[in-house]
Amino acid sequence: MKSISVFGGNGFLGRAICKEAIQRGWTVNSVSRSGKPVQSNEPWVEKVNWVKGDVFQPKTYESVLKTSDAVVHSLGLIWENQDYKKLINLESSGASNPLKTLAQAFQVFTSSKGSNPMEKEVFNTYDGLNHQSAIVLAEAVAENLSDEWPKSFPFVYISADFKSPSPAEYLKSKQITEIELYEMQPQLRPIFMRPGFMYDENNPRNMRHDVKKILELIGKIDTKNLIGLPQTVSIQKVARSILDHVAEQGFVGPVNMDQMQ
Ligand SMILES: NC(=O)c1ccc[n+]([C@@H]2O[C@H](COP(=O)([O-])OP(=O)(O)OC[C@H]3O[C@@H](n4cnc5c(N)ncnc54)[C@H](OP(=O)(O)O)[C@@H]3O)[C@@H](O)[C@H]2O)c1
Repeated sequence: MKSISVFGGNGFLGRAICKEAIQRGWTVNSVSRSGKPVQSNEPWVEKVNWVKGDVFQPKTYESVLKTSDAVVHSLGLIWENQDYKKLINLESSGASNPLKTLAQAFQVFTSSKGSNPMEKEVFNTYDGLNHQSAIVLAEAVAENLSDEWPKSFPFVYISADFKSPSPAEYLKSKQITEIELYEMQPQLRPIFMRPGFMYDENNPRNMRHDVKKILELIGKIDTKNLIGLPQTVSIQKVARSILDHVAEQGFVGPVNMDQMQ
């Protein structure tokens, strides 16, 4: 049996990774500041070891690293103004009415304040959460490797589809992190997941599902993607792909969208 630790395991993608790993019979730890997710009574949730820890403070999770065979870093920001999380996690008015959801989305965007640079902290910037947190974690993993560990240690980083339209600083933070993690071989075996826009295939009432439908609708008209819209992929597919690549001895480097479908 394998043991995996998912940092951000109670987040949107993180939960799907934890659930998939439990279904495969793996031992699963989730590390995040709030620990166990509230409002969840699915049976797999009880099988996860929910640890409260801060990625920037390795002392809070070192014991978990010592018993892991693989680590996933699944935390980050797409926009530094975190109002977007409130927006994309909205429950929509129904999968059949994506336009009504768009109107709701517009309301959230127009009512939200821009990010105040004075309020920026390491935990809410691209460089802090997308880049530095991954390096802090990777260094903690490397320091805690047992002498008996025979091979490179699988370290999964959730990067981004560089072809998707995204803020330049966001993509830059992902790119820099990939480069620095790549240089941590052979101690680590870095795996870079590069998903486009992610949605939950089991939750059609979520705003992300509506956005996916709209993107696919436009894609039917703009078949050559001249507009340059992001490709979509479900968190379930990304989760399966992560665990497949962790299990594939010797796999290292990027996993692009076509490899996740
Ligand atoms: N969503 C997309 O469509 C998409 C597309 C491409 C790439 N990505 C990337 O995928 C990754 C996951 O995205 P997501 O949408 O699943 O994120 P999310 O739902 O916001 O989850 C973030 C997780 O990180 C944890 N976290 C935040 N700060 C932490 C800290 N200091 N220490 C420990 N845990 C911390 C949060 O839990 P606590 O608050 O409890 O700490 C939460 O579990 C990100 O790197 C993102 O850039 C997302």
